[in-house]
Amino acid sequence: MNKIWLVPIWIVQVFSQSKSFTKNKVIGNVWLNRAGLHVLRLVLSHSVMRARMLLVSYNIAPDIKRAYFRDGFIVIPDFLSQSEFVRLDNEIRHADAEVRECTQGDTLTHRIMLDDNTLPNMPECTATLNRRDFTKLNRFASGSFSRPIAYIQTIKNHYIDGPPDPQKNLHSDTFHPTTKSWFFFDDVSERNGPFTYVPGSHRLTLKRLAWEYRKSISVSNDGDRYSANGSFRITDADAKAMDLAPPKAFAVAANTLVIANTHGFHCRGNASERSSRTELWTISRSNPFSPFPGIDHPLVTRVQNKAVGWWRRHLDKKAENRGAVSSWHIIAARNTVEDTEQHVTDRIEHSDTRTHTEGASLPSGSRTPATAYYSQSRMAR
Ligand SMILES: [Fe+2]
Repeated sequence: MNKIWLVPIWIVQVFSQSKSFTKNKVIGNVWLNRAGLHVLRLVLSHSVMRARMLLVSYNIAPDIKRAYFRDGFIVIPDFLSQSEFVRLDNEIRHADAEVRECTQGDTLTHRIMLDDNTLPNMPECTATLNRRDFTKLNRFASGSFSRPIAYIQTIKNHYIDGPPDPQKNLHSDTFHPTTKSWFFFDDVSERNGPFTYVPGSHRLTLKRLAWEYRKSISVSNDGDRYSANGSFRITDADAKAMDLAPPKAFAVAANTLVIANTHGFHCRGNASERSSRTELWTISRSNPFSPFPGIDHPLVTRVQNKAVGWWRRHLDKKAENRGAVSSWHIIAARNTVEDTEQHVTDRIEHSDTRTHTEGASLPSGSRTPATAYYSQSRMAR
């Protein structure tokens, strides 16, 4: 082992949200996983996160609490009043901010980060993020007082030529409970790829633990790129082995808020045509082994957002030194909804620069069964 000096760091990372079986040779050690390391991390992290969620759930209605623990998601239609929705919708459609793009298969994702640089010019976004009902639901779901990282995001399905989008395979984001939320500005249906979730798949059943145990050994040996990075993909056979329910596609109206525990299996649903959906999207991920439920303070939020901004610029620089662009690179757009047709055309003509593209390398063996599993699902509403 020529990276022996990294071993102490890898050991410390076992008790953090680190999830990569390839980058961390302790987490990815096949013998340790045969001895149950991965399963132990699951059980411990889920226990701590459950305690944290209960701790911060004092002001959550019992039926919402029960539904989230049972299903792994909350759906709230008509989250804003009509006038609030119209003002917010108008603001994000006319935003003038830095936009970053990621290409995954044939899908483009455009994002504006909602931070100190953008929020001063976006009062409606600020008001939404500060709403008491929004913060308390996110707190409960993430087991943390800390604010989530927030973006305006547009997913543009089939906007470029490419293999299928790997985010359209059912997967678990990581080994521990973790939270994402979507507040939709568009009506969502099969047309523009509804968020899709397997109800109850966030729970640690014995069958799930047995599957996680087998999977941790197989990815320690040789897994597809995404599973080896700690986001386990599932096949039809896996779903059967775990007795999972059919996936539910969230065909919802604009002005609906969805919050989900993305340890549960989920994906971007398939879109039947070239189409897009725009959302206010948040992510909350903290150390699942820490019993400390974070702090809600503007300074903490600022430091968190600055760290993300610094990391993005670092990756930009690194990619630039290789003569490439980073996976989340800045594009010439003012907001996520404007037509970037010309920009896309330019980039296709210079497709040799697409070294950043994520997702083109998922082995078809792991993609096809998961897609087949998805395709058996019905639109649930
Ligand atoms: Fe995901």
